[in-house]
Amino acid sequence: MARSSSRYRCQSCGWDSPKWLGRCPSCAEWDTFAEERAGPPKGKERSWIAGVDENRSARPLSELADSDTDRIATGIGELDRALGGGLARGSLTLLGGDPGIGKSTLALQLALSGSSFSRALYVSGEESAAQVKMRADRIGLDYSSLLFSPETSVESIGEIIAGAEPRLIIIDSIQTIYTEELAASPGSVGQIREAASILLRICKTIGAPTILIGHVTKEGAIAGPKLLEHMVDTVLYFEGAADSELRILRAVKNRFGAANEVALFQMREKGLEEVRNPSAALLAGRAEEISGSAIAPTLAGARPLLIEIQALVASSPYATPRRTAVGIDSNRLAIMIAIIEKRIGLTVATEDIFVNVVGGMRLDDPALDLAVGAAIVSGMRDIPLAPDLVLVGEIGLGGEIRGAARLESRLKEAHRLGFSRAIAPKSKSKLDIPTGLRVDECATFSAALDILLP
Ligand code: TYD
Ligand code: MG
Repeated sequence: MARSSSRYRCQSCGWDSPKWLGRCPSCAEWDTFAEERAGPPKGKERSWIAGVDENRSARPLSELADSDTDRIATGIGELDRALGGGLARGSLTLLGGDPGIGKSTLALQLALSGSSFSRALYVSGEESAAQVKMRADRIGLDYSSLLFSPETSVESIGEIIAGAEPRLIIIDSIQTIYTEELAASPGSVGQIREAASILLRICKTIGAPTILIGHVTKEGAIAGPKLLEHMVDTVLYFEGAADSELRILRAVKNRFGAANEVALFQMREKGLEEVRNPSAALLAGRAEEISGSAIAPTLAGARPLLIEIQALVASSPYATPRRTAVGIDSNRLAIMIAIIEKRIGLTVATEDIFVNVVGGMRLDDPALDLAVGAAIVSGMRDIPLAPDLVLVGEIGLGGEIRGAARLESRLKEAHRLGFSRAIAPKSKSKLDIPTGLRVDECATFSAALDILLP
């Protein structure tokens, strides 16, 4: 039964109704109403909110403590890198990703690593104590001081936190947590949002960094963690290809540091291992002398990374050929194909074209254009590119090669991994190029292809 304080709101247009409706009278969308709480619970101030009052008055900004930016190093180097130096005090972090990708494992390792979080609380609505214990045994870290609770009511969790005063709180997962104030079932839009906002208040009051784990559902953003992104301080997404051990942790939002920082892990028998040499890991298993493969030095946040782009070109059995991009934006692929047709003069209208970024990374670096274009042309002509070569540069609609951000650090990374040649945009100033790397600066895509595939 819905409590009298509940309202229902259309998630599409915001129309407000005292009762649930199947179809919104305002925007005519079906099945968009979600329950919301109309106001704060009356006479129900909980112990964990009590401490908030003294902060209610406004004070000069300069007098306020800057403890918000205090960082606690997690003891996991790659995680600290993605977070920009550790977890900030009282910060709320969303850790999202597909089921089975390793979110619970990462969170448990975080709770057990180092002494920074001497008292961590792991709340799991997904797994039993026995299951979490089994995972801790598997990881092989000492868990004698880890607190565990299978509680899923956010009010009870608040009381547990007030009593135990943990230094780190992990909620696995936000989809299983509910507030007693709403009648909707756990995992619904209203419950996720309401439970998260209560946890936000708890975490700001207690000052313990809090991690909310959220599953990204195939159905998309609606019931998933997306709707929490604006509420939390930091959003981390855990990605990776199903058939690979490689896991990529990406900070898509960070109020305390640079967004887009990336950390790399490998899922091993005994938990997640940090990848010390990411470019080498991403290029491992690369077969040379295969057509349709190109290596590009890209940027993942501040870090240069070498990745392999693969293109498969095959004559299409369909009237409308298929174009599939995995790891890059499909609009960019469409533009690249049009440039190949118009500026290079190759016929692509009858070809299926598939492009894949090896290793399961998703990239939106415009300077990958040259590698994508070269991989496609190499695939079409069935001629492999030289194995010691990297390609970098954005391609404009006129077929011209434009600059790339932080070109020198990209080229250095290529050199560090043993590549001896690079094709790069023409630069205005003289580049500081490592000795042993030959860089051909090209003004146009077709000039680059003359060098690549003479
Ligand atoms: P899990 O952390 O449960 O994923 P999530 O919480 O995102 O759903 O990890 C699940 C997968 O990781 C599972 O398929 C088993 C694998 N795994 C390992 O390979 N090694 C390990 O040490 C652990 C703990 C899990
Ligand atoms: Mg899990």
